[in-house]
Amino acid sequence: MTFKIRIQSSGREFTAKENESVLAAALRQGVMLAYSCRNGACGTCKGKVLSGRVDYGTYETKAMSEAEREQGHALFCQAKPLSDLVIEAKEIAAARDIPIRIMPARVVKMEKLADDVMRLSLKLAEGQRLQYLAGQYIDILLSGNQRRSFSLSTSPLSDELLQLHIRHVPGGFFTGHVFTKMQEKDLLRFQGPFGMFFLREDNDRPAILIAGGTGFAPIKSILEYAFAKGATRPLHLYWGVRARRDLYLHDLSQAWAREHGNFRFTPVLSEPRPEDRWDGRRGWVHEAVAADYPDLSGYEVYASGPPPMIEALKAVVKKHGLPEDRLYYDSFEFAH
Ligand code: FES
Repeated sequence: MTFKIRIQSSGREFTAKENESVLAAALRQGVMLAYSCRNGACGTCKGKVLSGRVDYGTYETKAMSEAEREQGHALFCQAKPLSDLVIEAKEIAAARDIPIRIMPARVVKMEKLADDVMRLSLKLAEGQRLQYLAGQYIDILLSGNQRRSFSLSTSPLSDELLQLHIRHVPGGFFTGHVFTKMQEKDLLRFQGPFGMFFLREDNDRPAILIAGGTGFAPIKSILEYAFAKGATRPLHLYWGVRARRDLYLHDLSQAWAREHGNFRFTPVLSEPRPEDRWDGRRGWVHEAVAADYPDLSGYEVYASGPPPMIEALKAVVKKHGLPEDRLYYDSFEFAH
């Protein structure tokens, strides 16, 4: 059985299979709806069901309240159609035209950037190229229908190999494999690109970019893309980690600050160790941003990191006057 889904504002139509979420069905057919966690936890995919019925699935009430649900809202990463639907949903124009593809890639280089961070460089088959927006991610496809999401850390304008920053999660099925068994020349398959986290280029507002841990990867992609395009808007990067050893591309970030007059770099350590001899910023990265920017009304904020960081940041930037539609974020659990 299939259901027909129409997006009211654009008239775009797609179909969903039985038991398929509205979001999964949309993406499968190249319709780019806004999303982030795909887990019922962040609320990014929230839209309205104007007609028809859905199974709302499981989700967290912080992502959608009872009242919102009663008003006809649904989280499309979880909601599955029970009839044909007409919906109101956030469509992303810029990403919409990029086809999502499944491609093979060869691991051509593995470099440990820190004890628990590996940089994988991937080479596509001869003549192949992946189109993506700086900040987007790919899913590595594993056996048994499993997949793991990782952001591309490279600029789509560069001819470099595709690169991922993989953090070792102890006991993790895939990341454990990367750190113990994977070898250069191994073949992988991936699907992508995915995600709504990319630089908005329809304005020149100053942007604050906030990375938590390996959330640095998509921010690096965005920055290298902006530098390559000669962007002159002020860009301020905050990188929040525990200790000095977690700033795994500190030198690169400092080099950007030397080379680009519109760029500033502020690393923030939450648990510096005595041997770090750290005299820089300490504490939580969202607090550092709040202290430096009491009025965010003229800014855009791009953040990539684990859900607790994103949640804390959302509250802080709202309090400091950032319009809700100028916070772009990639909220992810570290892939295991
Ligand atoms: Fe659906 Fe996060 S709640 S994408």
